[in-house]
Amino acid sequence: MTIQPVTPDPTISQDLLTAGRTAYDLDRSHVFHSWSAQGALTPMTIVQAEGSHVWDGEGRRLIDFSSQMINTNIGHSHPAVVSAIQEQAAKIATIAPAHVNDARSEAARLVAELAPGDLDHVFFTNAGAEAVEHAIRMARLHTGKTKVLSAYRSYHGGTDLAVNVTGSARRFASDRGAAGVAHFFPPYPYRSSFHAETPEQETERALEHLEQVIQLEGPGTVAALILESVPGTAGIFVPPAGYMEGVRELTRKYGILFIADEVMVGFGRTGRWFGVDHWGVVPDLLTFAKGVNSGYVPLGGVAISGAVYETFADRAYPGGLTYSGHPLACAAAVATINAMKDEGMVENAARIGTEILAPRLRQLMERHPSVGDVRGLGAFWAVELVTDRTTKVPLDSAAMGALTAECKKLGLLPFVSENRLHIAPPLNTPDEVLNEGLDILDQALAVADGHAAG
Ligand SMILES: Cc1ncc(COP(=O)(O)O)c(C=O)c1O
Repeated sequence: MTIQPVTPDPTISQDLLTAGRTAYDLDRSHVFHSWSAQGALTPMTIVQAEGSHVWDGEGRRLIDFSSQMINTNIGHSHPAVVSAIQEQAAKIATIAPAHVNDARSEAARLVAELAPGDLDHVFFTNAGAEAVEHAIRMARLHTGKTKVLSAYRSYHGGTDLAVNVTGSARRFASDRGAAGVAHFFPPYPYRSSFHAETPEQETERALEHLEQVIQLEGPGTVAALILESVPGTAGIFVPPAGYMEGVRELTRKYGILFIADEVMVGFGRTGRWFGVDHWGVVPDLLTFAKGVNSGYVPLGGVAISGAVYETFADRAYPGGLTYSGHPLACAAAVATINAMKDEGMVENAARIGTEILAPRLRQLMERHPSVGDVRGLGAFWAVELVTDRTTKVPLDSAAMGALTAECKKLGLLPFVSENRLHIAPPLNTPDEVLNEGLDILDQALAVADGHAAG
């Protein structure tokens, strides 16, 4: 059955659409957008958002496979979280970080309880990049060393240090090279930097390479190694078996702190509470944000191991934020985590990964010559598009633009990064909505196939 272009939803009022048009005009007059040339932008207006759906400025309903910035893990407008924020606002809307606040204390307890090993203390930030900045500051002070190792093909945030640590091309414009950061090649079996032909070879060679980088950089100068547990924005690369355990072993061997960046995958995205849980790895510091409260109010943080905590038991930690542990954000985190537990969302993410996303995306790869690779786990998948499966030449931005436009026209909002679509719906997306979104993707991929060798 051919899917027709999505038409305006008659339940969306004219008032909402008029307000949306005013908002659009004001946006174009006054809002400066992230990562964009401002002049030619035509951003999508969202006038309503509920569960796994959003409604655009024309009142058309789209399935949200992006979870916005891969953060609305519980979907839009979850009633328990909305009420918790409203109740907290009426009670105490804000309070300085120096004071005790019940929402903050409970959020910290819940994060510590869920985090692996002895990550029992939490420093709250406003978002992911700040969490990365503070984790690195803690590691430098704890070890007395300065250098940080991070992977090419990574994203760790948009602030000065976090973007230097970032391994993807997004750092180039702000990269000052001398910030004490060195990069290494992570595993990426589809385009192996190590000419590996099996996942086992990829693991072995990637670890051998990492050990050489550590030795050549000088273990005595390296404070920390930061690694996304499943690298996200740069391409969703699930580490092959043994890699994460190997990284943990190498960091211990050379006295380097291991920072697991769980900003994107933490809180259920991969079908476990944290990405590191797939491999039983306990880092020294763990950064989180996004999913901790589904982004309803900005919140991030660092979960801190016992040893690092001890460094600051008798010595002041030289850092802080006016809004560290903001009550509205923490109340949202408590309600989000409790809703995720009560509704079994993490288990559901694992189930939809195995039962729906993995088999259906692999089917799409069989049907569409433009799909070079599909990979992921839980509710976190990449569809990598190429012009030719043998040469693996990435689909260009014009073709990706046409594919994205086709998805939206048919009622699907994907997350687009370079030559990939990232499939990251809310963890509680009903099966029929997932299947509907995948049907749209199946039809839209014909546009990408038009740019691929048959
Ligand atoms: C792994 C990772 N770390 C850090 C960040 C930065 O987080 P934020 O944008 O909340 O500052 C991101 C954002 O996408 C991320 O994916």
